[in-house]
Amino acid sequence: MMNSVLLDKAKHDRNRFNCGIDELNNYLKVMASQQAKKDNTRTFVLEDDRNNSHIIGFYTLTMTPIDLKALPDRLQEKHHSSTSGGLIARLAVDNRYQARGFGEWLLIDALRKLVAASDSVAFPVVIVDAKDGAKDFYERYGFQAFSDTENKLFITISDVRESLG
Ligand SMILES: CC(C)(COP(=O)(O)OP(=O)(O)OC[C@H]1O[C@@H](n2cnc3c(N)ncnc32)[C@H](O)[C@@H]1OP(=O)(O)O)[C@@H](O)C(=O)NCCC(=O)NCCS
Repeated sequence: MMNSVLLDKAKHDRNRFNCGIDELNNYLKVMASQQAKKDNTRTFVLEDDRNNSHIIGFYTLTMTPIDLKALPDRLQEKHHSSTSGGLIARLAVDNRYQARGFGEWLLIDALRKLVAASDSVAFPVVIVDAKDGAKDFYERYGFQAFSDTENKLFITISDVRESLG
């Protein structure tokens, strides 16, 4: 059974992690733990069960303002009184573990957490900031690009809830 846990800097070897993108590696190394301590973001990791200090992949969640104007008309109207969306701020899999389904597993795990959060403190959309080349990855799972930005995508909580069942 795979399970994600909160990043624990005393336990997880953050320096070992390498997804091939320095900005993401550095976030995990220097920012993620501090930001969690300040209640700004939460970072969850998937551990390698052969060595719990090894991080297979991670994602970081927080909230973000919604730019209503960049949503399709139908959604602008429906959510005009809403201001915030859930944000998958970072998501990455270590090179040594890529292309084995862990990215998909982490994305679904992140979306389950966001649906659960939205069940208590409602927000209508999930937004993701996709780094170079990852846009297609998110589109496979029903995310749609914002009209005004290259690398920002969204999906409605109601679509996520429906597809997760
Ligand atoms: C993008 C990333 C998260 C994918 O993780 P992964 O574990 O390699 O992906 P998975 O094995 O779970 O792939 C799931 C499916 O998505 C596809 N896929 C993987 N990466 C993709 C990409 N960049 N673009 C399009 N499709 C992609 C896979 O082919 C697979 O499809 P299949 O089930 O038909 O075989 C990972 O490669 C990564 O961390 N890359 C570097 C950092 C990055 O770009 N992060 C995202 C931006 S924040």
